[in-house]
Amino acid sequence: MSKKLYVKTYGCQMNVYDSERMADVLAPLGYSPTDKPADADMVILNTCHIREKAADKVFSELGRLRAHKNQKAKDGGTMVLAVAGCVAQAEGAEILRRAPFVDIVLGPQTYHRLPEMVARAARAGGSVLDTEFPVEPKFDSLPEPSYQGSSAFLSIQEGCDKFCTFCVVPYTRGAEYSRTAQAVLDEAKIMMAKGAIEFTLLGQNVNAYHGDGPDGKPWSLARLIRELVEKVGITRLRYTTSHPRDVDDDLIAAHGAYPQLMPFLHLPVQSGSDRILEAMNRRHDRAFYLDLAEKFKKARPDLALSSDFIVGFPGETEQDFEQSLDLIRQCGFVQTYSFKYSPRPGTPAEGMAEQVPEEVKEDRLIRLQTLLNDQTKRFNKAMVGTVLPVLLDRPGRHPGQRTGRSPYMQPVHVENAEAWANKVAPIRITKVHPNSLAGTLEPS
Ligand code: 5AD
Ligand code: SF4
Repeated sequence: MSKKLYVKTYGCQMNVYDSERMADVLAPLGYSPTDKPADADMVILNTCHIREKAADKVFSELGRLRAHKNQKAKDGGTMVLAVAGCVAQAEGAEILRRAPFVDIVLGPQTYHRLPEMVARAARAGGSVLDTEFPVEPKFDSLPEPSYQGSSAFLSIQEGCDKFCTFCVVPYTRGAEYSRTAQAVLDEAKIMMAKGAIEFTLLGQNVNAYHGDGPDGKPWSLARLIRELVEKVGITRLRYTTSHPRDVDDDLIAAHGAYPQLMPFLHLPVQSGSDRILEAMNRRHDRAFYLDLAEKFKKARPDLALSSDFIVGFPGETEQDFEQSLDLIRQCGFVQTYSFKYSPRPGTPAEGMAEQVPEEVKEDRLIRLQTLLNDQTKRFNKAMVGTVLPVLLDRPGRHPGQRTGRSPYMQPVHVENAEAWANKVAPIRITKVHPNSLAGTLEPS
């Protein structure tokens, strides 16, 4: 019998990838996707624990889903409700206490066992909790990806051993783990055969990649990129997210050697102040980061940088904060994700003295984002008149329009471009909107 599956994804691209894979795992049980939770026979919330706000959203969503579940029961049906992802990993027992109507709680490392959990939940009529870090890696047990579209995420690495003092990832995703190079190459080939053109290699600390190679040696990210470009034939490639400490010379050189690597790099720095970087346990200082940025730009002069910043980390003074602003100017970031520091349970920074008041964090966030918006606008404006290769991977808002991403991840809207659906089109940029660009097809 055909059943409907509704998956809601919070947080990072890794979660987007995991959500797709959960749907793949459940497909043999007869589940097909729906975008209406009220119709669903099974609902999965794939959650994020990185900041308090992200975690809170899960509990309010569960309240809404409870009503759907009750209605479904009244109509004589059932709805299996599962909470997956990092909130599940970190607060599994708490979820079952606060929301006992949840049937399944599963961490990011166990979703290959979902069919078994669904069966167990149906049999037991109670809740199933599976937040282990199993010995058998989940990647070995996942079915072939049922991939659609032209822009693909490919998870190559998971977990993190860096233990930045603010971050829950080393606890929720566990120790650093790299898939074998062969598994990555095979998955890339399958996705390519199904229409993928652009690949984003994913990992919490993707440039720590060191998967076993087919030659019996560990492969670095740079080595993997070489194979993906030269042997698999990928023509558009990105990777995220990187740690400055794990950038090696080969990776920098790859940006010079392979035009297939898009000239846009997300390299989180978190702060521009050495004192705060030290307290964050980032294991690098400002000068080290600046030096890296320069090396990347030397290898690939058209490369633009994006970053992550946290404002209001414990002990951050006005002077420390101004150094973050200064670094933003100096590196010329064209995009950043910036966040108010959010104390996370069990992390070293949670208990640090000198927590920064909320209103100071708010003020700093606004100032940082204002500066950044100016830089983004300037960067976008400089695109007007240039021709960019845009992968038109999505339908636009009205008939005939297509939308895609520039090499710099800017959304680009193009009229009368149906013929270029899911292709890389030469687009002359004509206009800058607040959050996107518009352009026209360049006759070839
Ligand atoms: N508070 C605020 N931001 C955080 N991040 C990670 N942990 C926290 C936290 N406790 C941000 C970092 C990271 C991004 C994914 O989320 O900037 O790079
Ligand atoms: Fe978290 Fe990234 Fe630091 Fe790892 S490197 S602990 S994922 S912020």
